[in-house]
Amino acid sequence: TVGTQELLLSRIRDVPDYPKPGVVFKDITPLLADFEAFTAMTDALAELCVRHGATKIVGLEARGFILAAPAAVRAGLGFIPVRKAGKLPGATLSQAYELEYGSAEIEVHAEDLSAGDRVMVIDDVLATGGTAGASLELIRRAGADVAGVAVLMELGFLGGRTRLEPALRGAPLEALIKI
Ligand code: PRP
Ligand code: MG
Repeated sequence: TVGTQELLLSRIRDVPDYPKPGVVFKDITPLLADFEAFTAMTDALAELCVRHGATKIVGLEARGFILAAPAAVRAGLGFIPVRKAGKLPGATLSQAYELEYGSAEIEVHAEDLSAGDRVMVIDDVLATGGTAGASLELIRRAGADVAGVAVLMELGFLGGRTRLEPALRGAPLEALIKI
């Protein structure tokens, strides 16, 4: 609802020139510290997971974990961490992706996802879409289906939605707030 969007937006702090000059960082720590706002965000994300028929929830390390884990509990679904490379002890699938400068790699435990799963990916921010796109590759390589991607904030001016479009293959991209 508009009320929820306004509440969430009011608890996101703009930090100018962080982490580098010219960038305005969107700090969600005031939102997390506010029980009412954190609950509203969690409920909205959980509702999206249920609406899109998710059977599992993937959270993207690190900030995505903070949103995805409570949403999974709220939705009554299991939580699966997608981690930065080298952090998971079991057999993993890995996916590299491009960053503004250089590249990165994320991993998931292969046994956590299989055919028949419908997975909702949750993260805090969609910027260029690189991280979310790589997570969709991992999910499909594991044999599972994508229920959708849900983020707190979509930074529209970075074009992530357009870049993510092919990887979504018709699955929804939901943003509680668009900036
Ligand atoms: C940030 C943010 C998203 C991602 C969005 O994570 O939390 O996960 O970037 O950017 P993209 O759409 O261009 O891929 P970051 O990798 O900075 O690390 P963190 O979550 O561990 O803080
Ligand atoms: Mg992140």
